[in-house]
Amino acid sequence: MMNNTFIDKFMSDEKNLAFLNATMWGPNGIRQAEELASHFTITKDMKILDLGCGMGLSAVYLVQAYGAEVFATDLYADPTENHENFQALGIADKIVSMILDATQPLPFAKSYFDVIFSVGAYNMFGDNEEMLTNLIPYVKKGGYIAVAFPGLKYDFGGNVPQEMQPFWEVPEVARYVRGIEWWRNLFNKADGIEIINLSEQACHDVAWDEYIAILDPKKGEKFTLDAECVDKWTLDMKTAEDGKYFNTIQLIAKVL
Ligand SMILES: C[S@@+](CC[C@H](N)C(=O)[O-])C[C@H]1O[C@@H](n2cnc3c(N)ncnc32)[C@H](O)[C@@H]1O
Repeated sequence: MMNNTFIDKFMSDEKNLAFLNATMWGPNGIRQAEELASHFTITKDMKILDLGCGMGLSAVYLVQAYGAEVFATDLYADPTENHENFQALGIADKIVSMILDATQPLPFAKSYFDVIFSVGAYNMFGDNEEMLTNLIPYVKKGGYIAVAFPGLKYDFGGNVPQEMQPFWEVPEVARYVRGIEWWRNLFNKADGIEIINLSEQACHDVAWDEYIAILDPKKGEKFTLDAECVDKWTLDMKTAEDGKYFNTIQLIAKVL
């Protein structure tokens, strides 16, 4: 289901576009968030835990589109910088910015959240049987766990296509960029949820195009990976992939 009413309006405002271009940390996170959220109901009285929020794009979406109360959490992103950005957008009173490692026991009461939401990050910590099972108790019965993250149309297993082999030499990439059926097998092992939707996001190509457009191979050393600029590495990988293998996978699960 393609839903892009919010993102199209958001990007038509120059100030919003500048913010988006300065904070994208992967394929357009607001676009992915909008498609993910279109599969269930979010209301303004809800409390939402956003895991791996990066610079907060999904949190901005959840507040501006629904007026929900969001806990925007990330292992590395600076909560002060995020809070200041949220202040500039006039939405800081609806968002708690904090550092949080999703792999650790969460510092919240059980059944506290209506929704756990995550865009572009879940595969980095959720590629194991424990993660989904550990998150379930923090969501109220009838609430949702909704995550969208980068994946593959089919799992490479030990058969990595030749053009992708240089990128799959990075152990983290080989570990957490997996095929949709691989994720289906993993998610099916969790008790206490009903899987409402597990599919490839329709916005994948557009979200990537919008990200590629702002990458700068000469940007320098903000992040380094194998001593190369990550922007250049990402551009090279996407060029090699050429639309053949990557997808964006979304899971929407109702907590029983
Ligand atoms: C590719 S970025 C995506 C950021 C953001 N969601 C977006 O779409 O713009 C992945 C994020 O996952 C976060 N992350 C990785 N491992 C994590 C963990 N164990 N707990 C919380 N966040 C984590 C990283 O710090 C990073 O901000």
